Order: sequence, then C-alpha cells, then structure tokens
Amino acid sequence: MEWSREELYRRIQEAHPGELDALQKQVEGSPWRQAYHIQPSTGLLNDPNGFAYYQGKYHLFYQWFPFGPVHGMKHWYHTASTDLVRWHNVGVGIEPTEFFESHGAYSGSGIVHEGKLYLFYTGNTHDADWVRHPYQCMAVMHPDGRIEKWEKPVIAAPPEGYTSHFRDPKVWKEGEHFFAVIGAQRKKDETGCILLYRSPDLREWEWVGELETALPHFGYMWECPDYFEADRRGVLMFSPQGLTPQGDSYQNIYQSGYLLGEPLDFHRPRIHHGPFREWDNGFDFYAPQTTESPDGRRILVGWMGLPDLAYPTDAYGWAHCLTLPREVIRKGDQLLQQPVRELDSLRGESLTITDAISSETKAYEGFLGTTYELECRFTPEDASAFGVELRVGDEEKTVIRYDKEQKKVILDRSSSGAPVAVDYGTSRARFLDADEICLRIFMDVSSIELFVNDGEAVFTSRIFPSKTSGGIRFFSEQGKTEMEAVLWPYQLD
Ligand code: FRU
Repeated sequence: MEWSREELYRRIQEAHPGELDALQKQVEGSPWRQAYHIQPSTGLLNDPNGFAYYQGKYHLFYQWFPFGPVHGMKHWYHTASTDLVRWHNVGVGIEPTEFFESHGAYSGSGIVHEGKLYLFYTGNTHDADWVRHPYQCMAVMHPDGRIEKWEKPVIAAPPEGYTSHFRDPKVWKEGEHFFAVIGAQRKKDETGCILLYRSPDLREWEWVGELETALPHFGYMWECPDYFEADRRGVLMFSPQGLTPQGDSYQNIYQSGYLLGEPLDFHRPRIHHGPFREWDNGFDFYAPQTTESPDGRRILVGWMGLPDLAYPTDAYGWAHCLTLPREVIRKGDQLLQQPVRELDSLRGESLTITDAISSETKAYEGFLGTTYELECRFTPEDASAFGVELRVGDEEKTVIRYDKEQKKVILDRSSSGAPVAVDYGTSRARFLDADEICLRIFMDVSSIELFVNDGEAVFTSRIFPSKTSGGIRFFSEQGKTEMEAVLWPYQLD
C-alpha cells in the first residue's frame, strides 16, 4: 500500500473511524506476536526513548507510528515496569500536537530532576517545500503521571555549520551541570558527528561544541548518541549510518556501537578512545539507549529492528519490538552485555542434559518450544565445529555454530522461516577465541537473543518461523564435543 503524506502525518487523535479496531484485528491474525518482548499494539515501533527510573518504576517509551508498519508521524508510547521484565502499557506519552513537532516527536531521553521526570526529544518538522527543521524539545512528567510539554523548544535550530540532521538528545548530569549529546551532520562534507550542549537548569542550553573523536569521517549521520561512565571510563555510543561492510563487521544496513576511552573532556570537548566496537553482531539491532538502575547498574535496551527494511509482520499491520534489557559491564577494553538478572523470574522448571556427542545431530526428550531460555556449554574434544539448531521444523531451523578452525560463532537464519532483508545476507559471524563456548539463548515467538561467553559476543535477531517449528537439536561435526544444556521453558500468561 502506498501511503500519502496526509495519511502518514496523522496523529492518533486523527484516526479514521474504526481504523484502529480494524488494524488491531489484522495484528491479532499475526503468527509472530511476541510473548515477552515490548511490541506495539498496532503499527510500527522503533527506538527506545526516555528510559529512566522514576518513583519506583522503570519508564521506557518508544517511537511509535500507530496506523501501519511504516515510518510516519512518530509518537512516544509509554510503558512502565517495576522489574524490567513485566511491562505495562501506559498509553501515548507524547502526541505531536504543536508547530515545533508537526511531523513527529522523534527520539530522546529522560532525566529525573527535582521530583519530576524531564523528557527531551526532537520535534521533527517539514516546511511547505518539505525542508526539514528540527527542534529540541522538553516535556515534564509529574508525579501523577501527567506529561506537560514546555511551551517552546529548548534548542531552536542546529548551530552554524551543521545540517538539519540534528536529533536525539540524550541528557545527563555531571557535577553542577546538565549535559546533552545530540546526533548531527556536518555541512562541509556531510559526515556524522555529535554536538555537546550544557545547561544549568535543563531549560537554558548553551552549545559547547562538536565532540572531537578520532573518527572524523565515519558515515554520514550519527543517530541516537548516549554517554555514560563505567568504572571511571567514558563510553560514547551512537548509531552511525553509511559505513561499508568490513569482514564480519558492519553487515547490517546501519550500525550501532560504542567508543570506550577516557572520561569525556567537557571543556574541549573531546574523548580519547579505543576502536569503534559494534554492540551486536546479529541482524536486527539499532538505536540502543541506556539508563542507570537504582542499584547502580547500567542497563541498555535497543530496537530489535532497522530502518528502511521490510519485515514479514508488515502484512499484519505491525512491525518490530524492543530487545530485552541488558546490563553493560566493562571487561578490559570491551563492554559485555548480560541479560538483566530479573529475567530469571520468567524461568519455569528446568530440564538438564549432559552428554558427549560425536559426529552427529541429536535431539532430547522435552527439549522443544518457542518461548524459553536455553543455556548450553560446549567443550569440544576433537570436533571441528559444534552447536545447536533451534526452532526446527520440517523445513525450518535457525543454526548457531561455532567453527573451531576459524574461531567464529555463526548465526545462520537462511532457513529460519519467512525471509527478511536477504540482500544483507543470511548469516552473521563474530571471531571469538575460546576453548569453551557457552551460549545463553532467549527465544521468543519471532526473535532470538544470543549471549556468548558471558556477553562477549551478542547476536540479536528477528526470525519468522512457523509456530510448529519448535525443535532443538545439538550437533558436533567431525569428532566429539562434551556438552551440558539447561532449558527453562517460559510460563507466560
Ligand atoms: C533512529 C531514528 C532517530 C529518529 C527516530 C525517528 O532510528 O531515525 O534518529 O529520532 O528514528 O523515528
């Protein structure tokens, strides 16, 4: 279906009579609705926004277009949870009603200050010639849950020298000041960068400068920046667009990663850092955002999807979901991601097997399902490769394989069911030098999140198998592998 601008740039209040009910029915017919991931009731979800802990709850918003699986008028949809696991749909958080957000309330962040949750976002507008004019805006969530917009934008335009690709403010506090990083594009050569702003009170913002990094030519736009400190190290993260694939890296349409280095030098401003590392080696991961939990953990959530691609759920009137929340932990010059421990509360009664498998593919009684957590530890003897096949059906399987010669973990979704983004390949790989491989897998109806060796490598992907494809099989190629596997079926209501 072709969407006209009029149809695309409508607010939820402008729904046609019966439109959302009809769409809801279409969504209900989808075989790929998730069981424990945040997903939209209808339409399209993208970036996580405004992630913050406020008044005893985590608040997590997301970019939402209610009327179909396309990028149209973006709203902020509000979800909340006390445990990062069971999320409750609160309703629309920000509906774009004002002139400074006439074409959508784009991504941004949240920060608690003086007993209120301050939300910062980009007001996207287009003029009559369809030229883009971005505004950085603020809204305040009160203790009673009411969200009130500030009457005017807090930053009215990008500074001289930058294009209108200026969006996604992430705000945090450092000493006496508030700071914001905002994704931007330089005018002179149309390359991506990050701009730093400072404020004494969240209302008045002053431009500090462009954040200097060692990556002056690294794609054409850096979306969704974030900054935090872990273990007295600085972490600058962003989602660059326009990188070309290199070996196993940068395989998706757009990338997402971080620079780990010294804490940000706010005066210059600049950051000394190591290499750009991708957060994730899976097929569907973009625009992550972090917050701090009350007990001091750094928690990250990403969008399990990518812009500019068609997905099999489109036919059912919805698209995408968020990832599970992960704790970010520094290990040397890398960041590990581990599913938050609260997720253990989803575990049903466990099933364990210990076996040695030799040049074979083996299934075990009770090992099957479409929603579960599975942990498998492999110690190869003389095998050349080993791994696990998931969501196995007559003609379907999703394969995780460790190739000992290449020392690579490989996720293959070439037979995972309905095809998606095949132009970008059907397998993903990541080098990992280890004698033992531990795979921690979170399976939902249409996604897999794989954490290898305590989160040293992560693969996040949508898959679209049929509901009857629930088999689990283990394999060892050309020799023997010792293995232990524990399956926790999920008991979900
Ligand atoms: C990233 C992004 C952001 C923007 C939002 C619009 O996926 O393009 O840069 O604010 O999505 O929905």
